[in-house]
Amino acid sequence: MSSLLVHDISTLLTMDTPQGVGALGERTDAAVVVEDGRVVWIGDTASAPSCDVRHSADGMVVMPGLVDCHTHLAWAGSRADEFRARLNGENYTDILKRGGGILSTVRATRDASEPALTDLVETRLRAALGRGVTTLEVKSGYGLSAEHELKQLRAAKAAAERVGVRIFTTFLGAHTVPAEFRADRPAYVDDVINNQLPAILDDADFIDAYVDDGAFTVAEGRRILSAGAALGLGVRVHAEQVTKTGAARMAASLGALSADHLERIDAEDAAALAAAGTVAVLLPGAMLYLGDAPPPVPLLRSAGVKIAVATDTNPGSSPFPDLWGAATLAVLTMGLTVEEALLGITANAATALGRPDLGRIQVGCPADILLVRPPAGEPPGAAQLVQHFGAPSLALTLIGGASF
Ligand code: NIG
Ligand code: FE
Repeated sequence: MSSLLVHDISTLLTMDTPQGVGALGERTDAAVVVEDGRVVWIGDTASAPSCDVRHSADGMVVMPGLVDCHTHLAWAGSRADEFRARLNGENYTDILKRGGGILSTVRATRDASEPALTDLVETRLRAALGRGVTTLEVKSGYGLSAEHELKQLRAAKAAAERVGVRIFTTFLGAHTVPAEFRADRPAYVDDVINNQLPAILDDADFIDAYVDDGAFTVAEGRRILSAGAALGLGVRVHAEQVTKTGAARMAASLGALSADHLERIDAEDAAALAAAGTVAVLLPGAMLYLGDAPPPVPLLRSAGVKIAVATDTNPGSSPFPDLWGAATLAVLTMGLTVEEALLGITANAATALGRPDLGRIQVGCPADILLVRPPAGEPPGAAQLVQHFGAPSLALTLIGGASF
């Protein structure tokens, strides 16, 4: 395979910071060599070896491809009417309890064929890749039966194959209790464990549960997540979003890779997450759309919890596909530093997916790399990329060394 040199890099952000905090592994006038899909050399441009293909990154920032570690991209249908209802004061959980919200997307997604759903996911993945997102997690959770959960996961994987992005899939049969089981919750928990889980096992990397009012209790979530973990799935949890339930501590006790949302955690929750090495995934899109208060970031920071930032893209609580915008919102509304936000959409997001070799530029790691033009008239610095809202223009995107 041919070798590729990116040279004269004005600002290289390797995100190679062992603790996942602080500086961004920044170098100036740097060069990176890629061979066989991996980074094989990082150094000064002056001492770079000769390669078959060369790209100048003069005046640019070079950084890892972005990692969106929490999305619900595999949906059909529209929730625009509910958006209007919420603007008129109706509450997200009340809409869910009257059979709308997640349940309305379940109806539309069950009605969609697998090819139609695959096309929808493909469109969304292409848009993400266009913004420099090279790795995404995609959850099911709008099927809520073995047949339709599997359809969602397969659609996500087929779409990612077409687009060329890296994908990790998460089984979220425990998103809410579907209409046909509303009178018998324990029967639905049994269905998730005994019917859905075996059906999707080959098509999922992780298992997730929405533990909240209108969804699942901590005890139900623990049963479902433990069953998935016993079959080898990594654990993630929608925790402490709308109400405080104890889900964050449950996530920590299961050694979860991530606990997501966390608007309502306390200091003990943060300590438990830190001790378990569970990554806190913050979702400013959902916080904004639901009009929530920010999570207590100082508690996470002082406990030493790694922080990631994701879009939570979905048709209800976060119709918000822009990961760069999420980083900016995390800084503006949650009090993250520029460094925390950028690590949150790269290295720490990859750690939340159990893949610390992604989301950073390091010798031996897959070459998922962006050549980023700074906003017009700006010098090529890290802060500018977060300061200016939305995705910057990209001169080149590499995934495993292949250009997009
Ligand atoms: O992460 N809160 C639960 N699940 C999703 C919302 C999905 C939806 O509203 O359709 C979330 O916010
Ligand atoms: Fe979510």
